[in-house]
Amino acid sequence: MSDHKVLFDELRFNNQLQPPVVDRSGITVIIWDNNILGINDIDILPQVIHVSIKKQGIAPLDICILKPLIRREYLLESNQDGPLIFSYIYTDNLTSLPHPLSSCYENLTNIALANDKTREMLASQAHMWNHTFNYINSMSLKCAIQLGIPDIIHSHGQAMTLSNLVAALPINNNAKTLDYIFRLMRFLIHAGFLSQTQVNDKEEEGYLLTPASRLLLKDEPLCQIPFVQMELEPHFMDPWHSLSQWIKNGNDSSTPFAICHVKPLFEYDEKKPKINRQFNEIMASDSRLIMSVVIEHCKAVFEGLKSLVDVGGCPGIVAKIIANALPEIDCIVFDLPHVIEGCEGSKNLSYVEGDMFKSIPSIDEILLKWVLHDWGDEGCIKILKECKEAIPSKEKGGKVIIIDMVLTDHKLQKGDDKSYETQLFFDMLMMVHVSGKERNQQDWAKLFSGAGFGDYNIIPVLGLRSIIEVFPLSVEFAKLNKTPVK
Ligand SMILES: C[S@@+](CC[C@H](N)C(=O)[O-])C[C@H]1O[C@@H](n2cnc3c(N)ncnc32)[C@H](O)[C@@H]1O
Repeated sequence: MSDHKVLFDELRFNNQLQPPVVDRSGITVIIWDNNILGINDIDILPQVIHVSIKKQGIAPLDICILKPLIRREYLLESNQDGPLIFSYIYTDNLTSLPHPLSSCYENLTNIALANDKTREMLASQAHMWNHTFNYINSMSLKCAIQLGIPDIIHSHGQAMTLSNLVAALPINNNAKTLDYIFRLMRFLIHAGFLSQTQVNDKEEEGYLLTPASRLLLKDEPLCQIPFVQMELEPHFMDPWHSLSQWIKNGNDSSTPFAICHVKPLFEYDEKKPKINRQFNEIMASDSRLIMSVVIEHCKAVFEGLKSLVDVGGCPGIVAKIIANALPEIDCIVFDLPHVIEGCEGSKNLSYVEGDMFKSIPSIDEILLKWVLHDWGDEGCIKILKECKEAIPSKEKGGKVIIIDMVLTDHKLQKGDDKSYETQLFFDMLMMVHVSGKERNQQDWAKLFSGAGFGDYNIIPVLGLRSIIEVFPLSVEFAKLNKTPVK
């Protein structure tokens, strides 16, 4: 670690020149990053910084961890009481700091002297840039898939050097393409889709897949390529350009998708067999992944059932997986006629066409996976009322199982910003494509009581999504309250 030390005589806190003695722990420390320094190497952003502190009058050094609070502000945590002397600060990552280090120190000092307003303005510009260019994340991922990079690295069977990768890619192998691929790979490493390791004792580094890029292998049973491909197709991206116009119009019955393509998504699909097929593929790829978890860890939610209808269940992968894993259950896939056209059933699996807003086949249990988030509250209550009509009372095992997101209460669960942001991405997506929304627990509770259900149980075991079990009112309760059970 001593290789990674940078010495400071003093640190500046809250932009004021402070004496090196600080009288208590728990202060906020402003840490440099590339934006403040105005340098190009982005690798130095320290997420965790070790600070070596020396307690006044006590010789041994003590290590503390600084945790990010907000951009560039870090809370110094220490269980030491009393005054602290900051003797030096280092990160594990200082090899990527620009050289010579003295110029870095000089820059830091200059910036530390700048007032809060200047620092805030520079940070705001960087924040705005980051958001403006967020699409580069998606587009670089799309490019990697189109070039088949994950499959090529996988087939290589070991860490793959840049030159080997470029030679194996379907591109011209020259100095320029080597540079393009190097830059794309550097970005994908940063984005968590690849990692790097030394190859065979040589100086050269080789690329390896990460768990995220393993989901982008064509032959991987849980492959998620269809999802990335379709969501980034121009016809799915174009409606975003109509979002502000749509909001200005305040047209409740339409969506930016419908403004852009003249028809709402589900009707648009109907007339475009290729898009309908693609849509089914993304649902199938998601269903394989999520149902592998449900069947392995949450089979109990289907226990004791004789029959189940998967409403809006096309292309039927979910029902097929349940029918195979639990052969005692008769499964029905229920969806719009054009969606299930040509689908063939099996021993305990059949397809029924219909409209979930009008009637749903009578059954023990109903599954609604990724259906309710497509609709507004009114639509959901209608669907749930139809579900309630189709199932028996709670005592007889009637139940609706929903697989959907429950928006995290961000104020209570600090720390997992990425998961919350991804849930909010989905919420925006539902608004732009289909008049739907993602809901928090209170929103779900309102839907269930609005449709006349009794109680519900949220099982948050599917990453960003949850299983929600919803039960009709018990006969006893309905009698007491003079509420019709159905
Ligand atoms: C987002 S997809 C979910 C598919 C599947 N449940 C899954 O998660 O893989 C929504 C499904 O609802 C179906 N759907 C839309 N309107 C419907 C209606 N009125 N009646 C029945 N199904 C409908 C669509 O055809 C589509 O298959």
